[in-house]
Amino acid sequence: ADQTYDYDVLVIGAGPGGYVAAIRAAQLGLKTACAESRETLGGTCLNVGCIPSKAMLHASEFFDAAANGTMARMGVVVEPKLDLETMHGQRRDAVKQLTGGIEFLFKKNKVDWKKGRASFVDAHTVRVGEETVTAKNVIIATGSSVTPLPGVEVDNEAQVVVDSTGALELRQVPKKMVVIGGGVIGLELGSVWRRLGAEVTVVEFLDQLLPGMDMDLRKEAAKIFKKQGMTLMMGTKVTGCAVNGTSATLTVEPAAGGDSQAIEADCVLVSIGRRPNVDGLNLEAIGLELNQRGQIETDHDFRTAVDGVWAIGDVIPGPMLAHKAEDEGIACAENIAGQTGIVNHAVIPGVVYTWPEFAGVGLTEEQAIEKAGGDKAGIKIGKFPMMANSRAKTNHEPDGFVKVIADAQTDRVLGVWCIASVAGTMIAQAAQAMEFGATSEDIAYTCHAHPTHSEAIKEAAMGVRGKPIHI
Ligand code: FAD
Ligand code: NAI
Repeated sequence: ADQTYDYDVLVIGAGPGGYVAAIRAAQLGLKTACAESRETLGGTCLNVGCIPSKAMLHASEFFDAAANGTMARMGVVVEPKLDLETMHGQRRDAVKQLTGGIEFLFKKNKVDWKKGRASFVDAHTVRVGEETVTAKNVIIATGSSVTPLPGVEVDNEAQVVVDSTGALELRQVPKKMVVIGGGVIGLELGSVWRRLGAEVTVVEFLDQLLPGMDMDLRKEAAKIFKKQGMTLMMGTKVTGCAVNGTSATLTVEPAAGGDSQAIEADCVLVSIGRRPNVDGLNLEAIGLELNQRGQIETDHDFRTAVDGVWAIGDVIPGPMLAHKAEDEGIACAENIAGQTGIVNHAVIPGVVYTWPEFAGVGLTEEQAIEKAGGDKAGIKIGKFPMMANSRAKTNHEPDGFVKVIADAQTDRVLGVWCIASVAGTMIAQAAQAMEFGATSEDIAYTCHAHPTHSEAIKEAAMGVRGKPIHI
């Protein structure tokens, strides 16, 4: 270690970006500390994001399967009774175990946890709480937090207007829930409470749900969530919110302008996106400027414009996803150690963990056509419905499809999009194939186990140049 500094590496933030970077740096022999102001390690993802939301999604899916007749159709007749306290309990347990696991990994790898909020004094000196820490390299991994909606004030304690953190903790099932923003959080957490009995209305500014996904998935999402009983108000904006005790009155109007309308709710979820955490870091002290979106820009190696200062995860551009943050954490630590750490940002899968799941990797059809100079003939598409997949059909999971997009000339796979009960698991093979530069033919001639949902990916790939067998 360089004796000039207390540490070789100080990571600010112990989310999936920061904790992974810290562990990798320590594994590579660098003396490492990680500053985290939360009570527990793991960041947004483990404490109030990926993990608790999946715990509630998984549990509520069982309730829904019992309540909506899915189980009865398979000969399992039960009358479900909701024990919300136990459901919350198993969520808290999952969080506790996983955050505790990171603490164990820090000890095992000799990463020092500096408890407190970090603030730059200069590029190599950081105040963490009462302590001053110096480091040769500082990695900013401070993540993101909820974007506020002016006029709609979140109060997670009162449980009337909540953000995602509040929506994970509701003490009772709302009768009527309004979700502002039909993106990932709105649909996942809206699904949780819809399954447990809430009437859910989604107010979305755009004409389709799930911005960023392939248009075929976005259109299908609207059909599927409507069929499940959600009310979708597309092309609509919220202009005001009045909280009266235990309920709220929202004023909404068409995004393009027009007559306003009032909707009542006993719970409002604000989920219109997230923004980078940079407040209090005192970036002025090191002369680090933000881009127009309030993010920290880096080069391909995750170096910022300031020597010795690096940044990864939600605080830099790119999709705000845990696995993207983790991969950047590994690559950044490797670069600091003098190795070659790379993240292929063209192949980052995205998954919405509703039922069914929506997943994709690579280019959407729209992006692929644009990349081909606007020439639709520049790409080829193969599609296969889950209805024709033997396993999905047997499991009574008819919704969804797989769509493989390939370059018309080279046959190289450009994107794979998928709606299926296990789409999140299926998309991994597509990501791997793309990472290896696969053609659609490579996937079509790869033997897939039968009967699995994944066979639908093979059949969609067969459809790119020829025909699938089962349709
Ligand atoms: P974060 O996880 O936000 O961690 C940053 C940490 O830095 C925080 O713990 C914060 O307390 C700390 N910090 C900030 N400033 C300071 C400071 N000055 N000093 C000390 N500490 C500081 N992504 C997925 O891939 N899959 C999912 O299923 C998924 N589900 C989600 C569900 C919800 C409800 C939410 C909100 C998010 C979800 N995400 C999901 C997104 C995912 O949580 C983020 O992309 C991921 O956590 C980003 O990691 P990060 O390390 O960049 O930042
Ligand atoms: P999002 O960006 O996914 O969706 C926000 C939605 O709100 C968009 O559809 C947008 O058009 C809409 N919107 C914006 N302003 C609006 C307004 N004023 N009125 C009505 N609608 C408005 O953001 P979300 O759902 O808050 O999630 C934040 C981030 O967290 C996501 O970017 C995602 O990366 C991450 N996340 C990932 C998950 C996963 O991987 N499964 C799960 C949950 C969150």
